[in-house]
Amino acid sequence: MEPIFFVHLTDTHISAPGKTPLFQLNTADKLRAVLKEVRGLGQKPAFVVISGDLTHDGDVEDYRYFKQLVDEESALLGVPIHVALGNHDFRSFFREGYLGEEPSEESYYYSVMEGGLRLAVLNTQVPGTHAGRLDEEQLAWLRGVLSEPAPAGTIVVLHHPVVKTPSEMMDSHLLDNPEDLAAAIEGTDVIGLLSGHIHFHSIGLFHGIPSAAGTGVAFGLDPTSRGSMKFIDNCGYNLVMVKDGQMIVHPMPMPGD
Ligand SMILES: [Fe+2]
Ligand SMILES: [Fe+2]
Repeated sequence: MEPIFFVHLTDTHISAPGKTPLFQLNTADKLRAVLKEVRGLGQKPAFVVISGDLTHDGDVEDYRYFKQLVDEESALLGVPIHVALGNHDFRSFFREGYLGEEPSEESYYYSVMEGGLRLAVLNTQVPGTHAGRLDEEQLAWLRGVLSEPAPAGTIVVLHHPVVKTPSEMMDSHLLDNPEDLAAAIEGTDVIGLLSGHIHFHSIGLFHGIPSAAGTGVAFGLDPTSRGSMKFIDNCGYNLVMVKDGQMIVHPMPMPGD
């Protein structure tokens, strides 16, 4: 099978124009800067996936603006952009502002095929909290999807990561029930997991499967933070290659403003 090359972004934290900027950062400009760099790469990615915290406040106006940005950038790059929800997102407002659907608090999860590679995009956010957990409905759905292998395997996209960090404080932000996810993907065609939320590049093995979190497009965090979170004005993304049945991740850090 031909290698598949794509870009993983996370934590764009977009706010509609006119709001007080988060940390005085123009997060829309940061998203544009990252995708401008992607457009200059030697190879064009097959698609882009963003693993949650799409907007910062998550109201309808934020999602309408985010949708406009995604449509513009998708057209410039000439490839689709898939999205997952994070703890800063609100399902109902996302449905209304981004999808143009009736408001609903239903979890937003789906699978999509890209050139033989399957993405299984999950919704780990526990509504009303910043915690991450996979509910039984999504676990059952995932087991069903994974019962048939995809030609190039499956990559699971979820906002809350599953790999430990250098800091106990940051470890408290990981997925609450990783053992349930491990049981659902054991013995299946899953070749990797991609996530965000912690705002730093972090790569490890989850039950033998590579799992990578990316730094935030909007801002970064010091992975050794203790006591309180130390925010960093940086940026970045992951280049992801699926080759010979393996997921290979290349973290691409970028400076901040
Ligand atoms: Fe975030
Ligand atoms: Fe988050």
